[in-house]
Amino acid sequence: MKREGFSASMKATNLAGRVMKVNHAGEHGAVSIYTGQIFMARFTAKSLLPELLAFKVDEEKHRTIFGNELKRRGLSRCKSYWLCAAGGYALGIGTGLLGAHAISLTTVAVERTVLRHLRHQIELLAQDVEAVSAISGILNDEQEHHDSAANHNYPIGMFGRILSSAVSRATESVIWLGMRL
Ligand SMILES: [Fe+2]
Ligand SMILES: [Fe+2]
Repeated sequence: MKREGFSASMKATNLAGRVMKVNHAGEHGAVSIYTGQIFMARFTAKSLLPELLAFKVDEEKHRTIFGNELKRRGLSRCKSYWLCAAGGYALGIGTGLLGAHAISLTTVAVERTVLRHLRHQIELLAQDVEAVSAISGILNDEQEHHDSAANHNYPIGMFGRILSSAVSRATESVIWLGMRL
């Protein structure tokens, strides 16, 4: 009985550690997306620069929060870390090249997916106070990123729907993969 309790708590600790790794890599991916978009927005969407620069500062802060959680738990970064960096940067450059509309659609799609996962993680890891506090600490920022990008109110045509669903699926896939590495 005791043994079962011990192994259940080990499983919960491992799950929380895995989630911290995935979130840490994901935040690095977010930093990379905004880095790519900022680079391109200098030519294609100057008006979005202040917003993108502020988002990037937040994502760096989030990466530090999860990085500190990994250190505290004695865990190394996720194997998906460099995939998130490369994929995020490519997505940032690609959508940045397309201009303000594509940039904001990407932010909305990424942040919406991330927010859904964060809320689910909080329920899943309710027993792990530190994990829940790290995740709760970034929720407001992510909601703000989502809302300010959504507030630009670009009309969503066929292309927008395709881009939005491709970005959501890519974000889901990276999270799915990170949870299994
Ligand atoms: Fe973030
Ligand atoms: Fe964000």
